[in-house]
Amino acid sequence: MCGIVGYVGVKPAMPILLDSLEKLEYRGYDSAGVALISDSGIMIRKTRGRIADLRKIVASVPADDCTVGIGHTRWATHGEPSDVNSHPHLSKSGRVAVVHNGIIENYIELREYLRARGYSFSTETDSEVVSELIDYWYNGDPVAAVRKAEQQLKGSYALGILFAEFPEQIIALRKDSPLIVGIGEGENFIASDIPAILKHTREVFRLGERELAILTRRRVTVFDHLGNQVRHETEHIAWDATAAEKGGYSHFMIKEIFEQPDAIAKTIAPRIDDELNIRLGFKSITDEDIRNINSIKITACGSAYHVGVVAKHFLKKTLNIPVEAELASEFRYDDPIIDEHTLVIIVSQSGETLDTLYALREAKKRGARVVSIVNVVASSIANESEEVLYTWAGPEIAVATTKAYSTQLALIELLCLYMAGIRGSMTKAEIDGEIRAMQAIPAGVQSLLDNVKSVQYIASLYFNCQDVFFIGRNIDYALSLEASLKLKEISYIHSEAYAAGELKHGSISLIEDGTLVIALCTYRPLLEKMVSNIKEVKARGAKVIAVINHDDTQTEAVADHVIRIPECKDIAVASLTIVPLQLLAYYIASLKGCDIDKPRNLAKSVTVE
Ligand code: AGP
Repeated sequence: MCGIVGYVGVKPAMPILLDSLEKLEYRGYDSAGVALISDSGIMIRKTRGRIADLRKIVASVPADDCTVGIGHTRWATHGEPSDVNSHPHLSKSGRVAVVHNGIIENYIELREYLRARGYSFSTETDSEVVSELIDYWYNGDPVAAVRKAEQQLKGSYALGILFAEFPEQIIALRKDSPLIVGIGEGENFIASDIPAILKHTREVFRLGERELAILTRRRVTVFDHLGNQVRHETEHIAWDATAAEKGGYSHFMIKEIFEQPDAIAKTIAPRIDDELNIRLGFKSITDEDIRNINSIKITACGSAYHVGVVAKHFLKKTLNIPVEAELASEFRYDDPIIDEHTLVIIVSQSGETLDTLYALREAKKRGARVVSIVNVVASSIANESEEVLYTWAGPEIAVATTKAYSTQLALIELLCLYMAGIRGSMTKAEIDGEIRAMQAIPAGVQSLLDNVKSVQYIASLYFNCQDVFFIGRNIDYALSLEASLKLKEISYIHSEAYAAGELKHGSISLIEDGTLVIALCTYRPLLEKMVSNIKEVKARGAKVIAVINHDDTQTEAVADHVIRIPECKDIAVASLTIVPLQLLAYYIASLKGCDIDKPRNLAKSVTVE
């Protein structure tokens, strides 16, 4: 999704903006640009392509005296990626420059409104309307103009705004799209995400819904939508700056895959005391509330949704109540049947996914109890949730999620055991056994990571394939969804996940000589049936890679290749099984020479509906 940065200080703004934009590259983008306050007004440079292209364009621009500016990476929604559609947008009068993340839903209507008042447009974007609308209302008072324009905007927006007549300030405003403010020494910053400014300051706060900030180099003043001044405590970001760097790995994705043992341990260990009691630190949801819950809905998008599909199985089995996993983009429009006895579990790495944020609001509106599992501290979803459980995975930069997925899975399992203890659906001794099994997950993941050679070998055999079918039953099917998404998003190989029992109801017609089928066979109660499914596809010419338990000789006898999961208890199997499949996707994409961390058309944080 689009990325925004802004700098106001005494240093040359251009190199700071370009460097910060590079730190937002992981969000996905197709064009980039900057706007700087210069002696002769607002100067814009923008281009389709990468920051490297923008660097070439600005190399000969004399900008050392420009100490205030905004920058943008654009992920095209309205209008193709092109120089003209890139941000910043400068109003035709030259008075107002804007960078925007989000979608202005009523931009066509607003264009007509402004056209009728003598304005014209040169881009296909929804965002251009913002700079012109602010310009229209501008009468010497920047804040009044922004607020007036805001009253007419429908949709989501994080905005960075420059006024030529106020050369020492940036105005920032947000609704439903993320924006942080960084406080430095004699300099201040705005950005869509923390890594963008970490090199310059570790003191940040998140701008609240519909808050407007005025940044000068000496101070930052924030107002709520009613015009009241708001005080924000800054949060000190303790991450090592190198946590947001590649640290010797070829890609962030492989670095993050290898960080999983540590990330899982950091997420679960502090929540388990010496007597193996689970401590989640809920503030408002009491034990009584947990006993009164009679159904659970998990809602999220993409991989986070896949976590929900896995979790559904063990929550249902452990708590013996109805549990559903639903895509957040559907949940909101599906009249969900929920009330105060429903627990809605929201899962999101970024905490900014708009579909998920809207699902959260819908759940709250309908009176459900809400627990969110989020990686980014103080993100919108975290801020608006009744209870938040943070995954402590550290910054995840690669678009394809790995360590966030693993930590979400571990945390939701811990939540399940916590609830089982309170509701009495498991004994303390049973829970202790499960917790010990969970404590062994990091070591199990590590042992898989210590033996990547067999996965690399399999990748070398199949990286040229055109189609891949992942099959599994029960939890293995849920894991297939994630394994398939991982492969397709970074390697661009067409892949599908099927519940293995469904194959013969249609999709088996796609299997022909040489088709690659990846069979997940870790769910012991249905192993015989999986073996039959493997035989069925092999009889039609498929090549089969099977992911199997350490002691499974039955599947080994029928598959072409096997990947073994180390010995572990059932609760740990899902956390281990996904790891070689993440690796397989990575090594295949790597052999194909794909842009692994920034796959085409994808964005890390999807802040539009
Ligand atoms: C997974 O690799 C994707 N990047 C994507 O499906 C992601 O999980 C989804 O967009 C949800 O993001 P969130 O966890 O930040 O809400």
